[in-house]
Amino acid sequence: MSKEFEDQVAIVTGGASGIGKAIVAELVAGGAKVLIADFDGAAAARLADEFGENARAFAVDVADAAAVEAMVHEAETHWGGLHLAVNNAGVSGVSQPLADLPLDNWRRVIDVNLNGVFYGMKYQIPAMLRQGGGAIVNMASILGTVGFANSAAYVTAKHALLGLTRAAALEYSQQGVRVNSVGPAFINTPLIENSLSQAERDALVDQHPIGRLGRPEEVAALTCFLLSRRASFISGSYHLVDGAYTAR
Ligand SMILES: NC(=O)c1ccc[n+]([C@@H]2O[C@H](COP(=O)([O-])OP(=O)(O)OC[C@H]3O[C@@H](n4cnc5c(N)ncnc54)[C@H](O)[C@@H]3O)[C@@H](O)[C@H]2O)c1
Repeated sequence: MSKEFEDQVAIVTGGASGIGKAIVAELVAGGAKVLIADFDGAAAARLADEFGENARAFAVDVADAAAVEAMVHEAETHWGGLHLAVNNAGVSGVSQPLADLPLDNWRRVIDVNLNGVFYGMKYQIPAMLRQGGGAIVNMASILGTVGFANSAAYVTAKHALLGLTRAAALEYSQQGVRVNSVGPAFINTPLIENSLSQAERDALVDQHPIGRLGRPEEVAALTCFLLSRRASFISGSYHLVDGAYTAR
């Protein structure tokens, strides 16, 4: 039996750590060829070595449009096309009330978490159209629908991602490119381990009615379902994986 993603080429931005790494693992296990595109080129290269010939590393800052165009070109020239993309790279930014947020921190979070996804789709969609269609998942967050104190830039970028996803889906679904977004609650990854103390993370557990934080593999499972042909009628929508965080 052929594997679910056999003969498909994927790009996962922020693929060297946390949620992105779990998505890379599931795609490679499903038979895809995956470009692990990450700011941390060395970590991406180490991961690509682990996965062998079906994975390749690409050092990129998704906030740099020319570098993102080169990333898409790399997938197309090396493997002959692009079928799947996960725009997952993201940063948390500093934790400060809005009036204290340094301007450069606001700009960097918007550049990476929002503009980086726009640049991704701007170059991924034409590449997908060149070979007959594809599927994109943009990594939003529960903070794409509810607020969170001291994270104005992050919350703004993730809310905007839902609109960007819907606009892209309206424009390209008919041409065979499905576009969806995923909203994880708090997931145990380096992103939150580096930005929140253990006490803050313990307090966050209480916000998740399921009684714990999420695991990267649980986000990867939803993401890879949305990328797969089993999700062939799903486009333009936002899908939670949040342990009932937003159900309260
Ligand atoms: N962990 C959570 O609780 C959580 C919750 C909701 C949404 N998310 C989102 O999931 C995504 C992945 O987060 P994670 O928790 O796995 O984080 P992580 O820090 O473990 O991994 C993020 C990866 O993105 C890379 N990256 C950062 N800036 C980049 C840039 N400018 N260009 C390319 N790569 C870049 C990093 O090098 C890293 O490998 C992010 O978009 C984040 O906002 C995370």
